[in-house]
This record gives sequence, structure tokens and C-alpha cells, in this order.
Amino acid sequence: MSLIRRNFDVLIIGAGGAGLNAAVQLAKADMRVAVVSKVFPTRSHTVAAQGGVNAALGNVNDDSWHWHMFDTVKGSDYLGDQDAIEFMCREAIPTVYELEHNGVPFSRLDSGKIYQRPFGGQSRDFGKEQASRTCAAADRTGHAILHTLYQQNIKARSHFFTEYFAIDLLQDAEGGVTGALVMDIASGEPMILNARATLLATGGCGQVFRTTSNAHINTGDGMAMALRAGVPLQDMEFFQFHPTGVAGRGMLITEASRGEGGYLINSEGERFMERYAPSAKDLASRDVVARAIVTEVREGRGCGPNKDYVLLKVDHLGEEVVAKRLPGIRETSKIFLGVDPAFEPIPVYPTAHYVMGGIPSDRFGRVVAPAHHGPEEVVQGLYAAGECACVSVHGANRLGGNSLLDILVFGRLSGLDILEYLGEHPRHRLTDSSSEECAMARFQRFDISGEGITVAELRSEFRKVMEDHAGVFRTDEIMREGVDKVRDIRHRLEDVRLADTSRTFNTARIEAFELENLIDVGISIVTAALHRKESRGAHSRPDYPERDDRNWMRHSLYFLEEDRLDYKPVRTKPLSVDSFPPKPRVY
Ligand code: FUM
Repeated sequence: MSLIRRNFDVLIIGAGGAGLNAAVQLAKADMRVAVVSKVFPTRSHTVAAQGGVNAALGNVNDDSWHWHMFDTVKGSDYLGDQDAIEFMCREAIPTVYELEHNGVPFSRLDSGKIYQRPFGGQSRDFGKEQASRTCAAADRTGHAILHTLYQQNIKARSHFFTEYFAIDLLQDAEGGVTGALVMDIASGEPMILNARATLLATGGCGQVFRTTSNAHINTGDGMAMALRAGVPLQDMEFFQFHPTGVAGRGMLITEASRGEGGYLINSEGERFMERYAPSAKDLASRDVVARAIVTEVREGRGCGPNKDYVLLKVDHLGEEVVAKRLPGIRETSKIFLGVDPAFEPIPVYPTAHYVMGGIPSDRFGRVVAPAHHGPEEVVQGLYAAGECACVSVHGANRLGGNSLLDILVFGRLSGLDILEYLGEHPRHRLTDSSSEECAMARFQRFDISGEGITVAELRSEFRKVMEDHAGVFRTDEIMREGVDKVRDIRHRLEDVRLADTSRTFNTARIEAFELENLIDVGISIVTAALHRKESRGAHSRPDYPERDDRNWMRHSLYFLEEDRLDYKPVRTKPLSVDSFPPKPRVY
């Protein structure tokens, strides 16, 4: 097979907010930038981000990055690294202004300033009263940002490989990354992309769960590629369930609905969040609200014929507010539920939304990992940013509005750091032949037809197992069973057969690669979850109901090769201010 080879200064895998914000910094500096995306760039999952991006601009009332930092540390249930959190909250302000100057059409206040709405877990003056910190473009903020960034990249001449699927990273003899083997989805042809630096910006892995707000493309590709390259995944036990997904289906109904004044009720018409979070109520942190909804349903106060959801009311806000501030969720509710939220409540239930863990990276996007049981070191030539990375700024629970912020801040910083790295590394490093052979073997892995299990069958079994065994509440027994079942599914991946092994536009082949990625990432989630014997943030264990700061102020690291876990301490020292020591977390 003839293999096309192309050389670039930088390879960016993923064209969401993180990838595009890195690419634009580099392309503007005249670097040769290749951006590989398995979908058209503006279909990347950033487009689905609804409620907004947090920055302490103080447009609605006084605000400060320090209060934003306090909320983020508390929201993380004290597992976030405080130096990185301080950095992100400070950088939020110039980042949002840069977006505004680049043309993002934010909604406006009467004063002409960027519109900011209240979101969950936000406060002023270190917890005293609700803040309004989330900068929004109606409830389609991600859409507005992604289109702007794509246009900026076109202007800066980034080179897009659209509808190319990344198979695996390539490495030199020392484990440094030299690029990737990718596949043109239309023709099925492989291609080697060599680069002096490679940035993984492939987004999340919500498709590991059956009910999710995530797009079909969110299959943890970058995380699984990192695992196979010997890099561990950090804090994968922490998976966020967004409280308000469309009941039974999972699409996102933005937290902005509650930020704008909406609230949740149970079958008795009770505003039940008043019992779970007397002060913040419906704007408590997401893990708190998701657990409250599941508890209401489990205790028999769910709504509908099967009593399996609660109701989100925004109809009291009036049709004008719903049309102006929440047009996207109005459309979603009408299409998927036949419900117009301007006039009736929306059936909602928690949906798998966001992985707090990911590829361990520092705040400049450099991937930092212990090699072969040794101390942590930077993996040469490899960067990660956005949801696939773990900086860690979200710890055990991310605050709404901090996800767009993360991808923008750390995407930009990765781009700028790569620029410096390229200055210090003027030559391409040589790919080790065994690394290329491994990647090619994976490329040919699903060239087998005949009798066997289909990708679709194994995938739905896997996603159901993940939902049943790694959901909102987890016990030792449930997770132990989950680990066994997922391992068994990984074993049965060997039996997967494609009906058609032709290369041309063979989406079944892509789905097989994606399933393998999902399973590798799924194993990291259930394994890390089983071993963390405490409840913290989104990891909630009725058998260990308390947070255990003495033993568990530690990040987990999962290694694929030996199916092993390791741990490293949380960085509790910020850059310039005093630490926020762990406290009981009440809202
Ligand atoms: O609810 C939302 O709009 C989601 C925002 C986020 O995940 O940050």
C-alpha cells in the first residue's frame, strides 16, 4: 500500500474550540498548521455548548477573578489544582474580550456591554450571594464562538484535513510524539502526518454512556490514543451528569434555563431543591442538583406515567424571555418532546455530559506523565487541551460555563507554548519504525468480515453497562461487576466483524475504531471509580458517603498497558493568593 506522507510544523487533532484557538495563534505566526477533524470543523461539539462562558467581567454586578477562583475550587470539591484554577480565572477576562474583538456576537445588556447570566455554583464575595458571571450569546454560545474561530482560522490559513480520522499517534524511539497516522474517511486511504508538535484537542467521551448530551462524535479518540502511546489518564472516575437532559433521550437543556429564573418541581409540585440546597436552590452545583433529581425519582416523587423524570418550569418567565434568552432549548423541547417551554414544563433527567478527567497536562498544554513507573516528565512533542485534557481545573466537579472557558484559555496557551517549543526544536524527529508498524496494524485491525458480532450490538451493550455500573450513585458491588463486564466486552471486541470491509466511505469501520476507543476509556472510568473509596464531587458512593481529605486529596492515573492505577497529590498552592483549604461543601 502506498502511503502518503506530509510534513507540518504542528498537527492539531480536533477542530473544536481548543483546537481552533490553538491553531489560530500558530497560523497567525506563519507556522504550517494541519488541523485534522473527523467532521466539518463547525460541527465539532463546541457548537452544542449552550449557556455561556464564565469570566468575572462584572457587567451585571461587581465581580472578581478571585471570587470566580473560590467558586471553582469549591465546585471541584477541592480536587482541582489551585495554581491552574487561579490562572484560568485570571485569563478568563482577556480571553472573553479577545473573542469579542474577533467577532463573537454576544448578547448585550441595555448598556451595550456583554450580557452575563447567573449559573450554578457562582457567588460574589466568597460565597455570600449569587453572581452573574456567564457571558452568553442567547443559549447558543458555543455555536457563536466556534463559527468565529473557524473564520479566524480560514483567514490565518490553517490547513484543514476535514473528514479525516486519526488512527494513532506516532512516536520516536524515546517515546516523543512525531505526528499521527490518519485516514481519509471518504477514500479509506491512510496518510502519515509528521509534525514537530502534536496537539490532541479531540473533546470528550460522553458516548461511553447510553444517555448523553454529547454528540455521536464524542468517542474519546484522543484519550484512547494517548493511553495506547503509554500516557495515563487522570481522574477519570469523575464524570459529570448534567441535571437537565431531555428525559429519556439526553439532549442538553441548558443550565441557563435555571439561571434565567427557571426551577425544578417533582410530582407533588414541590420545589425540591429548597430541601437539598437551601441557599442556592436550583443554582447549586451540578453534582448536587443531579443527585437530588435521581433521589426524588428513586423515592417515588418522579413525574409522568413511569414516574421517571422531574419537571423544569420556565413558562412563568413569559414567552418573550424564553424566545430571547432560550430559543435553542425551546426548539429542542418542541422537536424531541412536543413541549413548548414557554407554556408548559419540560420533562428532564440527568444526562452524561462531561468528563473532568483526561490526559494529564500542565497549564501550557504540555502533556506531563510518569514514564515507566518513573517521575513525571513532559512528553516531548505532545500537547493536549480542552475536554480531552486534565489540567486539572475542574477537579471532581466542573462548574457550568467553565468548559468553554477551559477550551479557550488552554487552547490559546497551548498554541502560544507550541510556538516557543518550535523555536527550540527546529527539526522533525524521526518516527520509530515499530511505532509506524503498530499504527498500521491498528489501521488494518477491522479488515475482517464474516460471522461475528456487529459494532452496533457490542456498542449498545457497552454503553448500557456503563450507564448501569458507573452512573450518578456507585457502590463497590455495582462497580466491581461493571469492571468485569467492560473487560469482557473488550475481550469480545476481537469477535467484531464488518459486513463490508471495503475502504471507501466505510462508516462501519470508523465506528469500530471509535468503539475500541470508547472501551479503552470506559475501562479507565470504571477502574478508577472502583478504587476511589470516598464520595467527592461527581463520584458519589453510598458505601463511602463522606469526602476523605486525609487519604484522597490525590489525582488518579490510569495506565492501559498494565491496567494499573497510580496517584499523585493535588496541588493546593495557588500562584499568588492564599490557598482555599477544604471545607464542608454546602450550597
Ligand atoms: O448548561 C449548559 O449550558 C452547559 C454548560 C456547560 O456545560 O458549561
